[in-house]
Amino acid sequence: MAKRIQTYEGEHITVTFDPNLCTHSAKCLSGLPAVFDVRRRKWIDVTRAGADDIALAIDQCPSRALRYVRPGVAPAASAAEATQSVTVVTLSTDGPLVLQGRVRVQTAAGEVVREADRVALCRCGGTRNQPFCEGSHLTAGFKSTR
Ligand code: SF4
Ligand code: FES
Repeated sequence: MAKRIQTYEGEHITVTFDPNLCTHSAKCLSGLPAVFDVRRRKWIDVTRAGADDIALAIDQCPSRALRYVRPGVAPAASAAEATQSVTVVTLSTDGPLVLQGRVRVQTAAGEVVREADRVALCRCGGTRNQPFCEGSHLTAGFKSTR
């Protein structure tokens, strides 16, 4: 069963987190540890940094598990990536395929499952959210060099 999407509302930014898409790259934790801290029960605290810094950290999320909305501010980074003409596929070490650019994932019947400027696809085979990575490669001990 899919996990619930979490929402963290602040005055200048609202952050959402979809655990079904988190690759556990920990880029958010290392990028802005004051805001993203899994040791806290409420692991995202949008009051601990400015909206610009939070947005900057979220823009590093390789899967768009983290997203944000800022009242009155266009999502500049997302728009820029969405218009790039080349879609880049990165084979992350011991982890998913990360696609950056204009990406549409659809079923064989043509049903669109996801459209985004960044998508992480499972290549360990262990995800519970096919075809997306949700971090299971870590517990499975997946090694991309094999
Ligand atoms: S995928 Fe995104 S939300 Fe998950 S740990 Fe990495 S940066 Fe954080
Ligand atoms: S590569 Fe992350 S769950 Fe398979």
